[in-house]
Parts: sequence; C-alpha cells; structure tokens
Amino acid sequence: MGMTSAASRLARLADGYVVTQLLWVAAELRIADALADGPRSAKELATQVGADPDVLRRVLRGLAAEEVLDDLPGDRFGLTATGELLRDGVEGSQRGAVLARGGLYYGALAGLLDAVRDGGVPFELVHGRTFFQHLDIHPAESARFQSSMAVRAAREAAAVVEAYDFRRFRTLVDVGGGTGVLLAEILRAAPPVSGVLFDRPEVVRGSQLPHVGGDFFAEVPAGAEAYVLSRVIHDWPGAEAVAILRTVRRAIPDSGTLLLVEAVLPARASDDPAAVRMDVHMLTLLGGQERTADEFAALLAAAGFRLDRVMPTGPRSGVHVLVARPAEVPRHSDRPRSRAASGGES
Ligand SMILES: C[S@@+](CC[C@H](N)C(=O)[O-])C[C@H]1O[C@@H](n2cnc3c(N)ncnc32)[C@H](O)[C@@H]1O
Repeated sequence: MGMTSAASRLARLADGYVVTQLLWVAAELRIADALADGPRSAKELATQVGADPDVLRRVLRGLAAEEVLDDLPGDRFGLTATGELLRDGVEGSQRGAVLARGGLYYGALAGLLDAVRDGGVPFELVHGRTFFQHLDIHPAESARFQSSMAVRAAREAAAVVEAYDFRRFRTLVDVGGGTGVLLAEILRAAPPVSGVLFDRPEVVRGSQLPHVGGDFFAEVPAGAEAYVLSRVIHDWPGAEAVAILRTVRRAIPDSGTLLLVEAVLPARASDDPAAVRMDVHMLTLLGGQERTADEFAALLAAAGFRLDRVMPTGPRSGVHVLVARPAEVPRHSDRPRSRAASGGES
C-alpha cells in the first residue's frame, strides 16, 4: 500500500466516529424511507423529516461522501444500494443495527481505553450499570435493542434451519431466546417439535409462543431433548458462560443435544472481520467475547459437555451451529460456583 493510500485509509478509519453518527442521524430521521420513491432535494427532505435544511444538507453530503447517498444535480440526493439498507423493513435492512450503534452503544466506546488499562467493562465504566440493568430501566431503548436483535436473528434463523435439521427432536428449549425469532423459524421448519421460549420474564411476557420467564443462572425448564442457546454465550465472560452451561447441564437428559448458535472466531482476523468486530462489541458492552472453536470446546468441557461438530451455516449469516452432548461432569466441579464466587454481576 502506497504512502498516500495508507494515509487516506488511516484518516478515514479515524473518522469512523463521524460516519457512525451520520448513519445514526439518517436512521433516526428515516431519511432512506423518505427517499424510497426517488431522489429529493435537501430542502424537501428537511420539510418532510422536520430538520434544519442547511444542517441536513451537510449531513446528506457527508453520507454521499461515504456512498450511502448519491448527490445529484440540483441539490438532490438519492439512495445508493448501500443506502437502501437503511430503509425500515426491507430485506437485509440494517436500520436497527445502525440505531443501536449510534445510540445505545456509542457512548460506551469512550470507556475502552480505561478498560484496556485497568480492566472492567467499558459500558459499565461509562454508565455506572450493566448493559441489561440499563435496558431494564430504559424500556424504549430495550424495545429498540430487541427489535434490532430480531432483524439479525431473522437472517441467522433462516440460515440455521437450513443447515441443521430440527425434525429429529420432539421437545426443545430456546434459552435466552429473546423475542423468539429463531424458535418460530424452527417450529415452522420442523412442525413436530414442541418448543419453549425461555428468557428474562419481561422479555417473554406476552409472547405468542409457549414461554417460561426466568434466570438462566438459576434454572431452565428441564427434560427437553434439545437446548438451543443462540448468541447467548458470547454475551458473557468465561465464568458466567460456564455457569449458564451448567444450568443447562442440570436440566438436559444424558441423551440430549445442546446447540450453540454463535460466530466462531477465525484463526486470523482478516478471515472474518465481522466476527472480530462483534468480539469488540461484546467486550465493550458486556465484557463478553466471541470465541474460537477450541475455546468453545474448553467452555463446554468445563460445564460437562463434549463438542461434537461445528457446522457452518449460509455464507452471509455469520454464525455456526456448534453441536454438543452431555459428557461426564469434571470431578470437583460438578457443583456450580455461586454467582458471587464467580464475580458475575449482570
Ligand atoms: C444477545 S441476546 C440473544 C437473543 C436471541 N437468542 C438471538 O439469537 O437473537 C441475549 C439474550 O439473553 C437474555 N438474558 C440475559 N440475561 C438473562 C438471564 N439472566 N436469564 C435469562 N435470559 C437472559 C437477554 O434478555 C437476551 O434476550
């Protein structure tokens, strides 16, 4: 890479904070939805979305510089293929992800340096409480977070049921299943399965799916043939991750199957940059982490499971299905340590 391109690349990377906010403003104001029928002038858009036309024009130009919008003659702006994905409800929409990054997540990054130096979770250093405690007291942000999770989960769920045949099970519990996107997709693809959605009581309350509210550090519904944990383990550091898996181990029959749906970190960052960026998100928000297949195998072993297979799903889904089975619980560690002893808070 020549000096100039290295310099301009670094300058652009350093301005990533600007791009995050330009995208966030566009998503909040629903600029892409306002442009769905074709290009408009900054002035027309400002009237439509309720913004100052001069400030909005400069934001739109900033987005055009990043090829999210096209700047056209006559002060007009149109959507590029990238900008299309900021629309609400279109296939592949990333509006929810953009809203979460520019709003809920954004401030937490300011705590990264302190966390690198002295430990701790950046979100907690900045906000004085854990991510899920914050969501508990901000229901509007919580609803937005769940809906952004739901869009991502829909994309992943389709890929998961395509890669793995759930018709082999009669009963299944989706632990930390959120709004039930994956469970609904499993039940659609495998009608004989009878499934239960398990999550925090306020998340599952009112769900159309059979559900149980509770705390996965304490107890999950017992006796199902299969337990699915999708994007749950990556929220947690090792001690808590093992504690959750041990709760499942206590509930699962010896003949049962545990399925983790997770990104699997590549050996080299450049092989899967999206998984590596997600790892930094986990570090920043929750003190959680993405893991390599070997790291998953070690966690599972510590909780009394054996990792049998790591199955990739569709090329753009970003997740794998890790298939594990109950094994001997390691000696001296068959009793879960208490949460206090493992240092967990959230
Ligand atoms: C990253 S989300 C994953 C949601 C869903 N499985 C998916 O794939 O999109 C993690 C889920 O864990 C749930 N959760 C967090 N702490 C919990 C606890 N102590 N007991 C039960 N569920 C919990 C959250 O409410 C959230 O729905």
